[in-house]
Amino acid sequence: EANQLIDRFGRKIDYLRISITDRCDFRCVYCMAEEMTFLPRAQILTLEEIETIAAAFTELGVKKIRITGGEPLVRKGALDLFEHLGRLQGLKELVITTNGAQLETMAPALKKAGVKRINISLDSLDPAKFKAITRTGNLQTVLNGIAAAKAEGFERIKINTVVLKDSNHTEVCDLVQFAVDSEIDISFIEEMPLGVVEHHDRSLAYYSSDLIKKDLAARFALLATTEKTGGPSNYFRVAGTLTRVGFISPHSHNFCSTCNRVRLTAEGRLLLCLGNEHSVDLKQVVRAHPGDIDLLKQTLIDAMQIKPAQHEFNLQEQPVILRYMNMTGG
Ligand code: GTP
Ligand code: 5AD
Ligand code: SF4
Repeated sequence: EANQLIDRFGRKIDYLRISITDRCDFRCVYCMAEEMTFLPRAQILTLEEIETIAAAFTELGVKKIRITGGEPLVRKGALDLFEHLGRLQGLKELVITTNGAQLETMAPALKKAGVKRINISLDSLDPAKFKAITRTGNLQTVLNGIAAAKAEGFERIKINTVVLKDSNHTEVCDLVQFAVDSEIDISFIEEMPLGVVEHHDRSLAYYSSDLIKKDLAARFALLATTEKTGGPSNYFRVAGTLTRVGFISPHSHNFCSTCNRVRLTAEGRLLLCLGNEHSVDLKQVVRAHPGDIDLLKQTLIDAMQIKPAQHEFNLQEQPVILRYMNMTGG
């Protein structure tokens, strides 16, 4: 098919993740260094350039766009961008992943702009631990943000928890209980080794999804489901509740063979895999040939030829990937 994105392994790409800024008001220990330098404005895509690239993707069969960062809601003009993206022909889902700090004020506007689902990072329900993990975040602000999103009536709000041994791994049951009480979903994530982070040894912090499942079994009955959201989560339902518990297990249960996504970084690089450096410079294409949508589409089709089979994460030799998570929003 000339109008689709299919890679060398026959995987169809219909999910685009767009990082609209590398900036964030948090400094989560697994994501960033304590001191970060951010990209100068001229180096990141303008909102118009993002829209152009997103339009080319939807013309090639992309059905789902997830907006990430850094923290997407700190970018000026984000709401206008969402409104424009929400109107793209063929797009079925416009969704975002956020740290939740801005949601208390922005939830209504996000709903109005056409955002369908929101994933919110929440690693701890303990204020001190939340502070230790995010370094600059405030738990209550995020809890208020989750409540505001809930009140706005978004479908299927999902919490993301990166589980770290000897830090928040003792809270997995409490976090599921919070999700059940709030009638929302939750995904537990095995940490991925991207970027050089200090004071945090990723091989020691590794806590597998199977261990989490075992911990949860003491308090909850998890029923296997075949439900998918297009992302890497494998979902279970908490018996007798509306809550789904997902597991994102890049180390213990590799999901690369069913990969359906690529990423656009804040500086306009099309990244073919989160755990590899294979990429194509789309900023150069849109700046050198403004308005040439056919060239852009052909560039995307060709880029599929260099999408790697799978990530190269290795917890022993870390980091293999020097790029920090805030360049891609995960
Ligand atoms: P849903 O649309 O709700 O399924 O969201 P999602 O899981 O696709 O996206 P989200 O932004 O909530 O990401 C959750 C976690 O999954 C983050 O830690 C991401 O880094 C990770 N993730 C998403 N896509 C990939 C992927 O292709 N490869 C790897 N290794 N991790 C991914
Ligand atoms: N490994 C796994 N997940 C990560 N995230 C950020 N950094 C990492 C990492 N190193 C998660 C965030 C957020 C999602 C987009 O990615 O917690 O919920
Ligand atoms: Fe910011 Fe999200 Fe990274 Fe935390 S994980 S520092 S909230 S981009």
